[in-house]
Amino acid sequence: MTSYIHGYVPEEQERLVEQAGVLGSLIYPRIDFIGCKQILEIGSGVGAQTQVLLDLFPEMRITCVDAESKQLEKAQVNLDSFKDRLSFECQDARNLQLNEKFDGAFICWVLEHIPEPIQVLRSLKSHLLPGSKIWLTEVYNSSFYFYPELSGLRNYYEKYNQFQRSLGGDPDVGLKLGNLLQEASFIDINLFPGGFHLSQHDPNTLKQITTYWKGLMKSGAASMLEAQLIKEEEVRLMEQDLDTIFEDRNAVFYYRFVQASATV
Ligand SMILES: C[S@@+](CC[C@H](N)C(=O)[O-])C[C@H]1O[C@@H](n2cnc3c(N)ncnc32)[C@H](O)[C@@H]1O
Repeated sequence: MTSYIHGYVPEEQERLVEQAGVLGSLIYPRIDFIGCKQILEIGSGVGAQTQVLLDLFPEMRITCVDAESKQLEKAQVNLDSFKDRLSFECQDARNLQLNEKFDGAFICWVLEHIPEPIQVLRSLKSHLLPGSKIWLTEVYNSSFYFYPELSGLRNYYEKYNQFQRSLGGDPDVGLKLGNLLQEASFIDINLFPGGFHLSQHDPNTLKQITTYWKGLMKSGAASMLEAQLIKEEEVRLMEQDLDTIFEDRNAVFYYRFVQASATV
């Protein structure tokens, strides 16, 4: 597969599990697979979202697809207690080759990494039964606003997004989900804004999310350093600025992602 900004080191695999916990209350209230027997999860990573889905929908089986075998190996360990309800396929989601048809699909934090995400939706649709429900959750990185304005965080964030684009990804793909689903001939398309608007009115969540954000940003550091896009000092300044935001009495931390649902 093409280069991937977060990499596949064990720290990143742990981060995905933590991320699913930190953001779960924002992602899952709407997700509805009631009545589904067998869904496809595209870009399932180490199974962090898979576990939440298996808990929420105890009758459902999931086929996990990821392009990276290291992720699937870790997912099998993480999800061992659910193994009777799981299958794993190491495939590029743009060209799925599966023998079964499914009655639902789930994609979370994946399309941002894939050049031509429309190919994923088309390939996926050909493996879904009529009436299947699909749920997507994807980033909208241009929505990020923070106060106070801090040059270390601004600089790092711009380079992070630029790097994502240089790898063929799209850090604003969430905004485009409606058009992509339409182009792939899904019907009943709905878009929902998600995210956080934090300030000192809720210091605990502000602390939790700025800490989470530090980990998210840092997960791109190794590949950005290797690409000589940043220096170690810029990583340190980004982390320092995220601490400064939390400490500022006028702190604001605002970010949107986009959820979409559609039917086949
Ligand atoms: C940020 S992780 C998200 C994992 C999981 N959805 C979660 O939320 O924990 C993105 C995953 O997409 C996978 N991926 C990237 N490009 C892919 C492709 N073309 N086909 C299938 N999986 C892909 C990566 O290997 C990685 O595991």
